[in-house]
Amino acid sequence: MSRRPHSARSATTHQDAVPQQARRPPGEDPSTPPRACSDGDEAGPEYSGGAAAVAFRGAEKRYPDGTVALAPIDLTVRDGEFVSVVGASGCGKSTLLRLASGLTSASAGTVTVAAETISYVFQDPTLLPWRSVRRNVEMLAELTGMSREEHRRRASEMIELVGLAGFERHRPRSLSGGMRMRVSLARSLVLSPGLFLLDEPFGALDEMSRERLNRELLRLFELRRFAAAIFVTHSVSEAVFLSTRVLVMSPRPGRLIAEFEVPFGYPRAADLRFRSDFTELTAAVAHRLREGGDE
Ligand SMILES: Nc1ncnc2c1ncn2[C@@H]1O[C@H](COP(=O)(O)OP(=O)(O)OP(=O)(O)O)[C@@H](O)[C@H]1O
Ligand SMILES: [Mg+2]
Repeated sequence: MSRRPHSARSATTHQDAVPQQARRPPGEDPSTPPRACSDGDEAGPEYSGGAAAVAFRGAEKRYPDGTVALAPIDLTVRDGEFVSVVGASGCGKSTLLRLASGLTSASAGTVTVAAETISYVFQDPTLLPWRSVRRNVEMLAELTGMSREEHRRRASEMIELVGLAGFERHRPRSLSGGMRMRVSLARSLVLSPGLFLLDEPFGALDEMSRERLNRELLRLFELRRFAAAIFVTHSVSEAVFLSTRVLVMSPRPGRLIAEFEVPFGYPRAADLRFRSDFTELTAAVAHRLREGGDE
């Protein structure tokens, strides 16, 4: 995988910049347990450079019908990282997430997950229509055997954080698409996952709802409601806006062909999208994406 630091990297002197951290080689084994996602970090959040949440080493995926979805992948995602993946339709992005989640196993190589809790959000919020917002949000916590008092407390907090206070008793059918997705996010984050996997969660939303949810997701990351994320999207701008790092995949069989460090620190303001260094980086990622597998 080529690492293509964008020229905007020189912007590390900008006040928004994150100091570039020394990285260990991609694919290295997780060596230390993940840091728990805490309610607050007095020292301030760190981004990138934590313990490995998941490590792919030479991980390939061939489906039983012979389709080779992924060529060998070497990738480590660490606590404090928000990693986005962009690539053409059918290149293996969802397969990459399924491997990280353990829903499917690698045909060759290894995928080592150190995160104790993994949450997975799909494009479709998949809510239970007969349950209220609150009962949907509580669902995963109930399944873990957490005490009723604890899962109610966590659910209330998450409902508040995703901006659904006042809608606790509503059924999904009376919510907008964006509100349903907020319920899905809240449900996943009740468990404070060490690894948060998101597969085009905002793809079905209109642009304004999508941008709003981008900002809300960023806030949840800034509040450390999840330790590390892998976020799949078709939107390069969304990828750059949210992430510490953007990975570009080749067409199938998917390989990681480029990696862009995103030099903007957190919290990120909504108008970051209008800055010239943001649009330059977005253009560089989009260009690499268009080149596909051509080196
Ligand atoms: N269960 C399966 N059995 C056989 N082939 C599969 C299976 N799941 C996915 N594939 C194939 O693997 C390839 C990668 O699929 P995947 O869903 O990972 O792509 P993707 O990058 O997520 O695509 P999209 O952007 O359209 O969601 C595709 O060619 C797909 O047809
Ligand atoms: Mg997919």
